[in-house]
This record gives sequence, C-alpha cells and structure tokens, in this order.
Amino acid sequence: MSPTLAIGGVVIIGGGGHAKVVIESLRAAGETVAAIVDADPTPRTVLGVPVVGDDLALADLHGQGLSKLFVAIGDNSLREKLGRKAREQGFVLVNAIHPSAVISPSVQFGEGIAVMAGVAINADSRIGDLAIVNTGAVVDHDCVLGAACHLGPASALAGNVSVGARAFLGVGARVIPGVRIGADTIVGAGGVVIRDLPDAVLAIGVPAKIKGDRP
Ligand SMILES: CC(C)(COP(=O)(O)OP(=O)(O)OC[C@H]1O[C@@H](n2cnc3c(N)ncnc32)[C@H](O)[C@@H]1OP(=O)(O)O)[C@@H](O)C(=O)NCCC(=O)NCCS
Repeated sequence: MSPTLAIGGVVIIGGGGHAKVVIESLRAAGETVAAIVDADPTPRTVLGVPVVGDDLALADLHGQGLSKLFVAIGDNSLREKLGRKAREQGFVLVNAIHPSAVISPSVQFGEGIAVMAGVAINADSRIGDLAIVNTGAVVDHDCVLGAACHLGPASALAGNVSVGARAFLGVGARVIPGVRIGADTIVGAGGVVIRDLPDAVLAIGVPAKIKGDRP
C-alpha cells in the first residue's frame, strides 16, 4: 500500500546523510517533509519520511498536489541538473534554513538553498540558487556565492569573497578578504585561500596551492 503523503509537504530528492540534515533543518523551520525520491528506490523511511521511488516518481507526486521540493544531493553538478529538471516539472524549490542560523536582513537568497545549523551570514551577501552553506560555516559581508556551490562545515569566508558556480570548499577551509574562487573549483579540507583561484582546479594546503585540475 502506498504511504499517505502530507499535503503541502516538501518533496526531497536524495535519501543520504545530507538529506537527513536537510530534513531536520526543514522541520526545525516548521515545514513538513512529505516524501523522498532517491536513485535507490527501495521502499524504506529516512528519519520517518517514506522513500516513494526514484525521480520517475516526481510527476506522480506533483500530480498529487505536492509542489514544494528540495534537492538534497551533495554533488554540485547533479544538484544543479536535478533542480533544473524539478522546476521544469512545475516544482518550486524551497530553501531549508535552520532557525539557529544568524542571517543579516540584507542577505539576498535564491531558491533551493540549504543553510545549516549554526551558520552566520553577514550584511549584503548574496547566495545563489541551490547553494549549500553547511553546518557552522561563516559568510562575512558582501560575499557572492554562485549557483550550486557548497561551503563545507565550519568553513569561513571573509568579506567580499566570491565563490563560483558549483565550487566546493571542504570542511574548515578559509578564504581571506576579496578573493575570487572560480567555478567548479575545489578547495581541500582545511585549506586557506589567499589568492584568486581560476575555474575547475583543485587547491589544497596552507596557504592553498593549485595541485592541478579538479578530480
Ligand atoms: C582535497 C581532496 C578533495 C582530495 O581528495 P583526493 O583527490 O581523493 O586526494 P587523496 O586522498 O588521494 O590525496 C592526494 C594527496 O593530497 C593530500 N591531501 C588530500 N587532502 C588534503 C587536504 N585537504 N589538505 C592537504 N593535503 C591533502 C594527501 O595527503 C595526498 O598527499 P600525497 O600524494 O603526498 O600522499 C580531499 O582530500 C578533501 O579535502 N576533501 C574535502 C572533503 C570534505 O570536506 N567534505 C565535506 C562534506 S560535507
């Protein structure tokens, strides 16, 4: 028998560890989570939310009146692609912003963004669609985060930093003021970025040095 789905609830794409953190952020913000679709459609629950199929189930869920969706996939390119597909199917991408995050009223948000517990985002920063600002990350004033980028847990951007689309900063990475990080670039865990980085490179260490193209 199919599970009864919460009317008005959010559909989640992805049923892994990142999805668990997103589900708890959404609940803490007062949302109901209705259903999960996952590449592994084996019927099960994740934090009490039923996995109802893979992404082929999305059309049916939309037909049942569910219109809010969140893409809880860590892979930046895949998250961007799935977000685009979900919008084409008529879903609205909601933001999952944990109420413990401290966010300046002047911050501008796109759609489909995760802001996890303990984050701080300061004045006039802009956060692009489908970005992840993970647990305890800090974004100081006037930063620009590109679409589907990911700031790892406890990473920190000083003021006026820009992070390109789909770029990824590992856990604990740090960036000094005014630096620009290119699209699709990866900064390894604990790296300290003190110079601009071009698109699609891997940089590691303190100070962060380019080790080649991103894997
Ligand atoms: C940088 C990173 C992407 C490289 O991954 P990888 O290509 O699989 O790298 P490997 O583990 O094969 O290591 C390659 C070399 O880089 C070194 N290295 C790896 N990560 C490093 C890091 N963060 N800082 C410094 N050196 C690092 C390794 O010691 C190894 O050195 P060696 O060749 O001298 O032995 C990865 O180590 C990393 O830091 N990922 C961040 C993960 C994260 O924070 N996730 C958060 C999820 S929410």
